Amino acid sequence: MTTQKSPATFHIKSYGCQMNVYDGERMAELLGSQGLTAADAADADLVVLNTCHIRERATEKVYSEIGRLKVRDTAPPPMIAVAGCVAQAEGAEIARRARIDVVVGPQAYHNLPRLVAEAAKGGLALDTDMPAIAKFGALPARRKVGSSAFLTVQEGCDKFCTYCVVPYTRGAEVSRPFDAIIDEAKALVDAGAKELTLLGQNVNAWDDDAGTGLHGLIVALDKIEGLHRIRYTTSHPNDMREGLIRAHAEVGKLMPYLHLPVQAGSDRILKAMNRSHTRDSYLRILDRVRAARPDIALSGDFIVGFPGETDAEFEETLSLIDAVRYAAAFSFKFSARPGTPAAEMDGMIPMAVMDERLQRLQAAIIRDQTAFNAATVGRTCPVLLERPGRQPGQLVGKSPWLQSVHLTTDAKIGDLIEVEIVSAGPNSLGGVESVKAAA
Ligand code: SAH
Ligand code: SF4
Ligand code: F3S
Repeated sequence: MTTQKSPATFHIKSYGCQMNVYDGERMAELLGSQGLTAADAADADLVVLNTCHIRERATEKVYSEIGRLKVRDTAPPPMIAVAGCVAQAEGAEIARRARIDVVVGPQAYHNLPRLVAEAAKGGLALDTDMPAIAKFGALPARRKVGSSAFLTVQEGCDKFCTYCVVPYTRGAEVSRPFDAIIDEAKALVDAGAKELTLLGQNVNAWDDDAGTGLHGLIVALDKIEGLHRIRYTTSHPNDMREGLIRAHAEVGKLMPYLHLPVQAGSDRILKAMNRSHTRDSYLRILDRVRAARPDIALSGDFIVGFPGETDAEFEETLSLIDAVRYAAAFSFKFSARPGTPAAEMDGMIPMAVMDERLQRLQAAIIRDQTAFNAATVGRTCPVLLERPGRQPGQLVGKSPWLQSVHLTTDAKIGDLIEVEIVSAGPNSLGGVESVKAAA
């Protein structure tokens, strides 16, 4: 057993969903509060791989990343911590197959400093406990953030879709307390955030004992001075309550964007997926959302090649896409995940068929996304500037509909400015600054 030195520098690499991005930021703040400083992956003393377990290649990436870190030539190999959902599901297995120092699950990363100290004495330090929401109370306060910040309000999932690992890696649905969320939101706004995206594996299941519901939380956040935009993701169709739909009509800061995954367009497949909604009930929800907020941008997630999916059933997914006309979407080939019911099902779809279906589905999505973007040309809308663009003087911001807008401007990152949209492609818009909004 080699004895390690206590690390002075760290690097965090996050994979997977936005909740992992948020967790990565919180881990960085935590390590920073312990006196460690951030460094490049190539020379950090401690590298945290904040992993995702949702599809196969994610796990393979972790192994190859560990391999690369071991043989890096610019510095001695770092202490390696595997965090996130792979750590939760397979941390012990990874520690058997590769020499790593720390395994820490997504509900236990507030203990990272203790684990790193333990590992520095030699051997493996592992913590994959799942105390409900204990970590948030143990993390340092928020400091500097960008103009758009994430805020996790809900964690875990009770839905048990038959293909999905999230209920196992993140545990049961838990909502953070109302006051803790409002406090963190205010801290983020004080730290520079103009926009907050509320995060949860099923964010619209957020609730408290008073039955406030996500819409009640959004109404409360709407009152925070200095906060200009509110978004939330990811929602489940079954938790799309009337209050939340109404909020899209009534709450000024709530942006006209809804990510509502459907996964498939065939009722038989939806049932086999244990989605607990039908094609029709899903489409009816979208009708109500569009009635509340006619300009809303809709996005979704799709899985092609679920076990047993026939050509005709896949066509039903395409016809659902035709009916909805999404502004954006994410689509995936079915991946058999260990421990999930779908991994044991009959009728695995050959890779070539999945490839073909994915291509056709993505072509339909790009068609609709391009049309949605083109329809904004000529409109003037507020754009929140988020980062520098490729060309000098160019900045990139987001429209209310979450489109990236590129423009040349003297305004600075964090400004919310009025922009006339002058051009559109499949993935972004071009704009010209019109009148500066009173920020
Ligand atoms: N809680 C969210 C997101 C879960 S993971 C929801 O219910 O929508 C994000 C997306 O990954 C899912 O919406 C699904 O489209 C995809 N996904 C999850 N498990 C998968 C698997 N085993 N194979 C392929 N795609 C998967
Ligand atoms: Fe996974 Fe389904 Fe839960 Fe989403 S709702 S996290 S897809 S089990
Ligand atoms: Fe991946 Fe875990 Fe998020 S499996 S998608 S990082 S909840």
